[in-house]
Amino acid sequence: MNPIVCALDTQDLNEAISLANALRDKVGMIKLGLEFFAAHGPSGVREIAKCNIPIFLDLKLHDIPNTVAKTVEAIKALGVEILTLHISGGTRMLKEALSVVKNTKMKLIGVTVLTSMSDEDLGELGMTRETKSQVILLAKLAEKVGMHGIVCSALEAQEVRKECGKDFKIITPGIRVGPSHDDQKRTATPKEAVNSGADYIVIGRPITKNSSPANSAELILKSLI
Ligand code: C5P
Repeated sequence: MNPIVCALDTQDLNEAISLANALRDKVGMIKLGLEFFAAHGPSGVREIAKCNIPIFLDLKLHDIPNTVAKTVEAIKALGVEILTLHISGGTRMLKEALSVVKNTKMKLIGVTVLTSMSDEDLGELGMTRETKSQVILLAKLAEKVGMHGIVCSALEAQEVRKECGKDFKIITPGIRVGPSHDDQKRTATPKEAVNSGADYIVIGRPITKNSSPANSAELILKSLI
């Protein structure tokens, strides 16, 4: 299994299609996020699906249970592999969403703490635990309610793996191969992330902004062996 999930954070549909085609055999999944969805909606997702690559739809849903469940219902028709929700939406929100995907192959993955956030950022929001313990708390809640896995940084993956079952999927963004971290704060290399127990590593700009995205993905894959 290829653990690389490439994040196509763009509003340009043609660029997204050409990246998806170029990366089809080099990565395991393509991640489409809010930026792409705001610009192109469900029809944009269907266009990318035509490139024959599994889709990770990163909408990070967070709303009242009924609104989230209805949204998951609408997304279900798109046939995406993975959809994300913020675990901080709470047990009832997560359970109602899960009831919608029962008996389908769509997986619901919970977002713990964004990898762009530091202890200081959490403190400002009144969350006084350190980031790692907040991530573990949310991961355990997600597992308890039956979510298929979580998103966390590679710095917390090892601890999450210890606390949660072996089939619970761990997905880690904030992956960096060089000195540039962009806006990410809790970062790791692809190898570090996989060694810490990540099942999938989400990589955006280090692949998409490379002069050859396909080469970059291939090098990252080789670095994992
Ligand atoms: O370009 P870069 O590799 O930083 O892209 C990371 C991707 O992972 C972005 O699409 C971002 O929205 C997403 N993500 C994240 N941190 C999370 C969850 C998702 O960076 N906790």
